[in-house]
Amino acid sequence: MTDTASLDAMRVNEHGYPVFRLGEFTFGRDEYFAHIEWPTGNHTMSIDAFLRALQRDVAWNFFYGTVNFDDVVGTVNHYGNVDLFAGSFNESYRKAELDHLENFPSDFIMDTFKAMLDAWTNADFDPFAAPEETGSAWGDKAGSNTDAVTRRRVTAQRMVGVPGGEELRTDENGFPINRQFADVAQTQPEIHAEPGFENEVAAFNLFAYLSRSNVTWNPSVVSVCKDSLYCPTTEEYILPIIHGNDRVEWFVQLSDQIEWVVEDKNTGAMRARVTMKPGDVAAMPADIRHQGYAPKRSMLLVWENGSPAIPELIATGKAPTYPIDF
Ligand SMILES: [Fe+2]
Repeated sequence: MTDTASLDAMRVNEHGYPVFRLGEFTFGRDEYFAHIEWPTGNHTMSIDAFLRALQRDVAWNFFYGTVNFDDVVGTVNHYGNVDLFAGSFNESYRKAELDHLENFPSDFIMDTFKAMLDAWTNADFDPFAAPEETGSAWGDKAGSNTDAVTRRRVTAQRMVGVPGGEELRTDENGFPINRQFADVAQTQPEIHAEPGFENEVAAFNLFAYLSRSNVTWNPSVVSVCKDSLYCPTTEEYILPIIHGNDRVEWFVQLSDQIEWVVEDKNTGAMRARVTMKPGDVAAMPADIRHQGYAPKRSMLLVWENGSPAIPELIATGKAPTYPIDF
């Protein structure tokens, strides 16, 4: 593991942006691009795409399995430590021996990523927002947007709306209905609890809740039953990362449409294109990576099994990579 201090090593470049180091990786940005360098190679990403990807990796605490920023760089979560890689899941880079991977304690890489996200996001840009709902990421350093990049992720302990848990979204607490969900009914279910159980029974309108989401591609935990996590999210434009699962992940398309590009997790070879329409259900196997395209804002229920035992069971062949035998 590498844990040399990175933040001490940063300098500010001619565009006003600090340069960050993580082990032997260096991260710099200019007016249009993020530049990533490692001992055997270097890579360039459009800065808007890089910041959108970095925002998800930070907000999701490295998520389940692999977060590919694109087909070259990304992270693998080992839940306590994290791989930062370049080319490790790209067959061409591996064959040419240009790939590079370093492992860091989670807190250490998270601190660096948070500092990078904050320092490289200008006042006009919100990397969590749909392109139509934010300004531009371009240009020299111009202010910051710390409130936007440090949004708290919803992680209910039991369920949204349960007393003492995550609040429902309302105009009053800063969550107006999104422009593309103006037609979503805002009625709430009636609850008729037996006397004495008033605080034990809860229900809420999930569609109304999602219609008020102010971010895109951000699965938040709205209900928990042991390891079963309901993580619905609203999607618009392109999933900013290519997610490589370490477990099976179920999708239920609640509204509108998402087109998924599904590739082999290790090589990036194309495996499938899946178009999901309202009511469609799909299970993403544990040996693929996927990226979604949503032509307009849509609602997606992501159902995760959060058991920490699963990655090892799948890696050792004790559990299958697919969800079910018929
Ligand atoms: Fe995923």
